[in-house]
Amino acid sequence: MSEECKNQERMDKIVSLCKRRGFIFPSSEIYGGINGFWDYGPYGSRMKRAIEALWWHEMVETRDNVEGLDSTIICHPQVWKASGHLDQFSDLMTDCKHCKMRHRVDQMPDPTTCPNCGSQDLTEPREFNLMMKTYVGPVFDDEHVAYLRAETCQPIFVDFQQVRIATRQKLPFGIAQIGKAFRNEINPRNFTFRSREFTQMEMEFFCDGEQGMEWFEYWKEQRIKYYREKLQFKDDFFRIYVHEKLAHYAKAAIDIEVKFPFGWGELEGVHHRGTWDLSRHSEYSGQDLQYVDHDNNRKIMPTVIETSVGLDRTLLAILSNAYDEDSAATKKEGMDEDIRVVLHLPPLVAPVQLAVLPQSKKLSENAEKLYRDLNRHFRCEYDVTGSIGKRYRRQDEIGTPFCLTFDFDSLNDNAVTIRDRDTMLQDRINITRLRDYLEEKIGL
Ligand code: GAP
Repeated sequence: MSEECKNQERMDKIVSLCKRRGFIFPSSEIYGGINGFWDYGPYGSRMKRAIEALWWHEMVETRDNVEGLDSTIICHPQVWKASGHLDQFSDLMTDCKHCKMRHRVDQMPDPTTCPNCGSQDLTEPREFNLMMKTYVGPVFDDEHVAYLRAETCQPIFVDFQQVRIATRQKLPFGIAQIGKAFRNEINPRNFTFRSREFTQMEMEFFCDGEQGMEWFEYWKEQRIKYYREKLQFKDDFFRIYVHEKLAHYAKAAIDIEVKFPFGWGELEGVHHRGTWDLSRHSEYSGQDLQYVDHDNNRKIMPTVIETSVGLDRTLLAILSNAYDEDSAATKKEGMDEDIRVVLHLPPLVAPVQLAVLPQSKKLSENAEKLYRDLNRHFRCEYDVTGSIGKRYRRQDEIGTPFCLTFDFDSLNDNAVTIRDRDTMLQDRINITRLRDYLEEKIGL
């Protein structure tokens, strides 16, 4: 099988697991779905929240110089004029007159030939704006047009002074936001990689221009460390792409790319955006967004270093990295299946961190009590049906790092068996030590 076919097959298996086990499935599927929109089921939504919480913890809660924001999705339309989105946020498109497919010119292997049917009868390329439009108020005319935000960072720039004054922060400091963004992508594709509705996690760090490059390097290193240590990305799974062509206002930009089954793709950007964003909003709003540096008696327009990552893409990257089919493992646990499907999810973001499995239904009362207790500290699931082996497999497939078996001996020795998803080794742990043991293993 060619490498391309293998990768396609791997992607198909991930998509099918996501649907079967309730991670991610097409939105409004009973009506045929809607292209570029995805729903997160019970496990998917748990995992999404865990990633969000981890990012927020790392970027906001553990830092005194980063504040949080939760702004609206619909902003004053001038925000998007000032940001340049209304005039420039567009793709060059062409339509095939033969098969009626629409294509992004920059993604066509040969811009004179339809990649779908091979026809050369194409329309002249034209600009297609990606902003999603709506109307605010009862009248649907040009005066009432508004837009769903295309990125979460613009409201951060708009609210910069409000946040600074309210928190009495001095430069350098950052503002972070997690929220939905919308783009009318022409070709949503590769599962959730390019969606029309998605969640971004962005942090804008405001500093004196003289220290801009130092802070750029700092944030680049911080973000790489996060992927290595918290999301367990190995060196062959991600790489840094350094932008050579920069926007006229930018001083430096890198992308953190990861190896999806369909190829390398951007996960996060760390960009030095100069004073561009605040200057534009100052100009368009007529409000002075400069910072008064009382220590040095001067006024400056802060420089911005941005870290911007998609939540949906993070989740897809983690799944792409985690999916595994293990044939050697099956015999170890006396199972008669050919392969064990397992997600090696980082314990910090696994939808279920611990499965509590009573050896027999007769032990339900004690096991359930233990489950309720542990569920206050970890994301737990209780499963009583089927053989222990079958229950292990069910948990392997959703990436549960630890399974706890409560057996008849537990009634006497007050200990339980903890089975590790990756090594499949088992530890006998006293219930009184369980919480510490799990916290250490999970990395809390
Ligand atoms: N504020 C800068 C900004 O929005 P971007 O490269 O357009 O930059 C940042 O987006 C991140 O948002 C990307 O690296 C990606 O993770 C995510 N993202 C962008 N477009 C997306 C889409 N259509 N679907 C899913 N995620 C997307």
